[in-house]
Amino acid sequence: MSYRVSVLQFEPAYLNPRENISRLTQLLEGLETDLVVLPELCISGYLFRSREDVMATSEVVPTSEAFTALGELAAKGDYSIVYGFAERDGDTFYNSAALLNPDGSHHVYRKTHLYYREKLFFTPGNTGLNVYPAKGGVKIGMMVCFDWYFPESARTMAMKGAQIICHPSNLVLPWCQQAMITRSLENRVFSITSNRIGSEGEGDLKHSFTGMSQILATKGEILVRMEREEIGVKTVEIDPALALDKNVSDMNEIFSDRRPAFYEL
Ligand code: ACM
Repeated sequence: MSYRVSVLQFEPAYLNPRENISRLTQLLEGLETDLVVLPELCISGYLFRSREDVMATSEVVPTSEAFTALGELAAKGDYSIVYGFAERDGDTFYNSAALLNPDGSHHVYRKTHLYYREKLFFTPGNTGLNVYPAKGGVKIGMMVCFDWYFPESARTMAMKGAQIICHPSNLVLPWCQQAMITRSLENRVFSITSNRIGSEGEGDLKHSFTGMSQILATKGEILVRMEREEIGVKTVEIDPALALDKNVSDMNEIFSDRRPAFYEL
């Protein structure tokens, strides 16, 4: 099966959802794909200074402006979108990702492992790490940025049958892009890491984001890696069925070779 997957990289405008919906709409204009992944918190920006900032830019599913606008783009373009956003549920905020399918169905993941000052504003996610059908029934898992640091995240979704790990990110540490090669390889899954560019904050609190969004194949092959400051969308064709093959030799199927009795987790 030939399946087109895309990664989008851009610089969100800080605390300006309308402007970000407009930037994303322009970048997605005319895109021909089956699945596209957008960065973490791509509607609000990243480095919140107050709860009021989060409140003002957070989204309630499924009625928020961004959720609706991106859902319409998914339907019009006939592709699935995964994007990161600040989710509000009553008095609680989550750093979430949503899968929006062209048939109108949607699924939400709430970031499990919060990074640094995210802990001041967000509650750790309570959805768990699950697998959902994207366009064409391809099974995707969602994790958000710092979740990469915990190999259990990708492993859990791969063991549940994920073929593609969708990974909206706002990366500030220098290691993720290389580390994801191992995440793809050790789980034999495709991965799509969509990162942002630019910087936010100042002084000790300044965060510079590392770009280099990428799409990796099941043996860790780099199919796409964008430049550090590039803005745009890149697309490649993959065969998602390759992720169902966990054999690394005639005698090694990596999931059935596992020895959980010896893993003291
Ligand atoms: C991060 O998790 N956004 C670094």
